[in-house]
Amino acid sequence: MRIVVLVSGTGSNLQAVIDAVTAGALDVEIAAVGADRPGTFGVERSAAAGIPTFVVDFKAYPDRAAWNAALTETVAAYAPDVVVSSGFMRIVSAGFIDAFGGKYLNTHPALLPSFPGAHGVRDALAYGVKVTGCTVHWADAGVDTGPIIAQEAVAIEDGETEESLHERIKVVERRLLVSTLASLAAAHNGRK
Ligand code: GAR
Repeated sequence: MRIVVLVSGTGSNLQAVIDAVTAGALDVEIAAVGADRPGTFGVERSAAAGIPTFVVDFKAYPDRAAWNAALTETVAAYAPDVVVSSGFMRIVSAGFIDAFGGKYLNTHPALLPSFPGAHGVRDALAYGVKVTGCTVHWADAGVDTGPIIAQEAVAIEDGETEESLHERIKVVERRLLVSTLASLAAAHNGRK
């Protein structure tokens, strides 16, 4: 199963995928890693791992439609079976998702449909929920919407900050992303 991973930042979830592949624990091929802006650590660490990388800079296009078209063309060149949004902080078009047969996987640091958006951890803390978590789902063209594949809960502790909570969620999220990809790869390889 070939995957293209999209990132906007650090890429620690991506690193968990790279580590699992390197360790022989995850049977996927990371065809490429791409970002929506230059200078992300996610792309830097991928290049260091010998993975092809690309940037389709949102700011370099006149409008969202032009950026979507460029992103679609660039990702399609790697012929992925699944595209993974791993901390990719931009909404893609329905056309992008259709181009990959709807196989656009997203990971989110909250128990969807609660607290979608760019600040899922902050919003859960502000609301005062006692339990939050993470979600891996097939994304549609909405903001963190689409069929849920896997979720895991994380209890919020007293005195928690956004940073401490996000880091504890990410520990779970990385494992959930890797295990979801492993299940998808097993099903994909079984079909071959
Ligand atoms: C992850 O927690 C991911 O769920 C979140 O960004 C973080 C990226 O961390 N994505 C969203 O909030 C999408 N709405 P990473 O760059 O260290 O993998």
